[in-house]
Amino acid sequence: MNKETVTITDNRTGKSIDCPIKKGTHGPSVIDCHQLPSKLGLFTFDPAFVTTASCESKITFIDGEKGILLYRGYPIEQLAQHSSYPEVCYLLLYGELPTREQMDNFNHSISQHTLLHEGLVNFYKGFRHDAHPMAMLVGVVGAMSGYYPDALDIQNPEHRNMSAVRLIAKLPTIAAKIHKYLIGQPYVYPRNDLSYVANFMHMMFSVPMEPYQFNEKATRALEIMLILHADHEQNASTSTVRLAGSSQAHPFSCVAGGIATLWGPAHGGANEAVIRMLHDIKHPKNIQEYIRRFKDKDDPIRLMGFGHRVYKNYDPRAKIIRDSCYNLLEELGMKQHVLFDIALELERIALEDEYFIERKLYPNVDFYSGMILRALGIPLNMFTVMFAVARTVGWVAQWMEMMEEPNLKIGRPRQLYTGAQRRDYVQVEERI
Ligand code: CMC
Repeated sequence: MNKETVTITDNRTGKSIDCPIKKGTHGPSVIDCHQLPSKLGLFTFDPAFVTTASCESKITFIDGEKGILLYRGYPIEQLAQHSSYPEVCYLLLYGELPTREQMDNFNHSISQHTLLHEGLVNFYKGFRHDAHPMAMLVGVVGAMSGYYPDALDIQNPEHRNMSAVRLIAKLPTIAAKIHKYLIGQPYVYPRNDLSYVANFMHMMFSVPMEPYQFNEKATRALEIMLILHADHEQNASTSTVRLAGSSQAHPFSCVAGGIATLWGPAHGGANEAVIRMLHDIKHPKNIQEYIRRFKDKDDPIRLMGFGHRVYKNYDPRAKIIRDSCYNLLEELGMKQHVLFDIALELERIALEDEYFIERKLYPNVDFYSGMILRALGIPLNMFTVMFAVARTVGWVAQWMEMMEEPNLKIGRPRQLYTGAQRRDYVQVEERI
């Protein structure tokens, strides 16, 4: 047998096929089994894509066993310490850290697209006063295709880049307008003299009566949170964006699909769910009772912010965000915050518990991110929107990478059909 292949034999027929093994830069190799249907008449069965590499990508690498995350080869710890969110956006989109001139040009093009079409602003008024911000975000981003039709030729690289820049530039404006709409305050227009993150805070928190007082550490904490959430390879929302994009749909609708997927509590909705859980626990003395419930298969609740499909070790983002959270709470004089105390104690107890050890369940990024957002004054129902703002660059970078593939095919999984056998239609009078 050739060393670089895996032989798959159908024992029923004796037929076999040599499937090539493809190697990446890092991580496990993959078996290229695309000839299985034509050679053996078989498909692979992999519900939830537990063992399937759906694409080739050069953007993000995760080593789940060792707890490593790299954007374009750079460790997340280094980016969180030294980089800015726009620089990380540039890196994810174009593959290299920018020169000063490239960075200036990128910042300039972002700043030229922060404003929203006023027609799109009116769109908000159709939402009920108590709509969930994620419902609004899906709707508004989906509607963008109707407002920016000048760059929707997805075969044109310049149009693709323009859509990418528009999405990254406008998402903070869209998110902040959702927040203002729901709390009944006037919209705050973007300020292009501020950095990306400072402008976001300005739009979220400024009021017409007085200037917003920036806190440098709070701004940096938000920047770190955005950097940590910027991309995470082929997660559920990114896979949604790629699948939608493979049909050659417009990028705004693809990203709206990604936002819808992110909303679920098993994905980005976990940051909101963690804070609700910590509130329910109320006091460190109640943790043991909750730990018992998290482990009980008859109880639907899970320890939110714990566990991950890929990480079987401490999520490197969780470590950074826990320290960032601690520093921010200290800066804001909230170090003794009861939720933080509960979270720390919950983490300690879970990490010593056989159930969590056996299943390799560790804190993920959402365990502490909610605490930072809360300390920044962001309301609970906006948490997943903040995640979506950060992840937009990841969705767009992955979409651009896919669109550059020379032989892009529409994504089309198959199934194992277990329904009724072929049967004939029965007239209603004859049905029993
Ligand atoms: N609490 C209690 N038990 C858990 C948890 C948890 N948070 N996570 C997994 N398990 C158990 C699960 O019951 C199963 O046990 P058993 O083998 O006895 O049946 C085992 O661990 C494996 O879990 P799984 O559900 O098969 O794992 P998965 O890879 O399908 O799910 C997950 C991953 C993230 C959906 C899951 O760990 C979870 O629901 N965590 C809580 C929600 C959360 O924090 N989500 C954010 C993920 S990170 C950010 C993001 O992706 O947006």
